[in-house]
Amino acid sequence: MTVIQTLQQGGRHPFLDGKPKRMLIGGKWLEAASGKTFETINPATGEVLAQVAEGDKEDIDRAVAAARAAFTGPWSRATPYERQALLLKLAELVERDFEELTALDTLDMGAPLSRTRNNRARALGMLRYYAGQATSIHGETIPNSLPGEHVSFTLKEPVGVVGAIIPWNGPLTATIWKIGPALATGCTVVLKPAEEAPLTPLRIAELCMEAGVPAGVVNVVPGYGETAGAALAAHPDVDKVAFTGSCGTGQAIVRASAGNLKRVSLELGGKSPDIVFADAHLESAVPGAAMAVFANSGQICSAGTRLFVEKRVYDEFVGRVAEFGKALKVGDGLRDETQVGPLVSAQQLDRVTGYLAIGRQEGARPLSGGERLTGEGLDKGYFVPPTVFADVNDSMRIAQEEIFGPVISAIPFTDIEEVIARSNATTFGLGSGVWTRDVSKAHKLARAIRAGSVWVNCYQAMDPAVPFGGYKMSGYGRESGMQHVEEYLNVKAVWIRTG
Ligand code: NAI
Ligand code: MG
Repeated sequence: MTVIQTLQQGGRHPFLDGKPKRMLIGGKWLEAASGKTFETINPATGEVLAQVAEGDKEDIDRAVAAARAAFTGPWSRATPYERQALLLKLAELVERDFEELTALDTLDMGAPLSRTRNNRARALGMLRYYAGQATSIHGETIPNSLPGEHVSFTLKEPVGVVGAIIPWNGPLTATIWKIGPALATGCTVVLKPAEEAPLTPLRIAELCMEAGVPAGVVNVVPGYGETAGAALAAHPDVDKVAFTGSCGTGQAIVRASAGNLKRVSLELGGKSPDIVFADAHLESAVPGAAMAVFANSGQICSAGTRLFVEKRVYDEFVGRVAEFGKALKVGDGLRDETQVGPLVSAQQLDRVTGYLAIGRQEGARPLSGGERLTGEGLDKGYFVPPTVFADVNDSMRIAQEEIFGPVISAIPFTDIEEVIARSNATTFGLGSGVWTRDVSKAHKLARAIRAGSVWVNCYQAMDPAVPFGGYKMSGYGRESGMQHVEEYLNVKAVWIRTG
């Protein structure tokens, strides 16, 4: 029987053996210095999955010391081929255990198997892309105009100890997105998983050890944001923080970084516009616009939550998106047929249902969903059905603030200049979508929208080779693509007088 079949028949996941999960520091599995643990739950059922060591400042100090020792030790002399081989080995192990990892993501944060299984190509592609990067990093020889003879060239060097702080909305891919470039460049890393979903990162840490990653190169310290996360962000011996999460926490991290002026890269939230013109291929735009928000129950930073629809097709289009949403199967992500799982936590449920109430108070009209879903098999979980609000205007809070739930705010528009201005009237700038058959409109919008990604006649397309990241308050720095490894490198200029 496969892991998933076992779980579907009420059995245990092999990683959940009933023992508290420890943290990985300097190649050793340790309890928290305080001895404390916290619970992680399955948001579909409320069931406690495991007790997890609760790291705080003292554990972060130990992990940073281990990461520093590894960085100054033999790891810094590992060759590009050696780092590449490690990443390829890790990819092989992730592939071997992919079903187990998929199931762990589903159990710990609720995303349906139909989604977590689909991450296979992306997760493996990322690791293999970074493996390729490991042997492609190089400086340049640059001609200079100094009198006398001087050779000048650059070296690309690993930035050092990286503190990686990740959210809960995609634990497997978020972990790989941070560990991959660190291994490719020769950095060391202390990763702090989200308290809502620490299990997959801990399992990947085991796979790193199995792959032969040297002790201290990858450390994983679970714990809360205000304690472990804040200690990592403020740590004077951390050279860079790579953060994915909310805007407010991103700001706290920037403030904390000032102490030693560490480098920071931020992948934050959004309120991304998704723009549908009347000339679009509506058959594909309906599911496209719906899943741009309903995928992962809307818990995606680049979800296309402000749905701008050209007035003459607004009623028809928005109605069809609502019908599409109503037909999606909501439930426990472990069921094969589930398309929309629970929200990650009681806190997220409160937040999202709070916005549903705000939307109604503001005068928006729910065409589908609009309230928490209860009933047989749903009462103990945090389920919100796909919701489409019509009659939304730009000034409503549901049109401006990140909800992070399966909620579409549908807004009519009449012409292209108007929709450009309104799309850009947000503090965020992460994703955006355009649905049209008119190639000139597509090009015009691709340039005019102030966001890190523009998807035309598709949404959420991602590839390890293509950069992803934010404009404005959606953050800075890029993940994926050539630029991603640059975020983990320093440039050193070397001058040699030869005359
Ligand atoms: P969060 O930004 O607080 O949590 C993300 C990570 O940061 C977690 O590992 C957390 O422990 C850590 N953290 C929290 N406070 C910290 C601090 N002071 N210093 C260092 N690390 C800290 O997000 P949260 O509370 O889980 O979700 C709240 C909202 O944030 C969501 O409703 C959503 O709007 C947004 N969010 C956006 C994400 C994205 O992918 N852009 C991911 C998660 C949340
Ligand atoms: Mg959990």
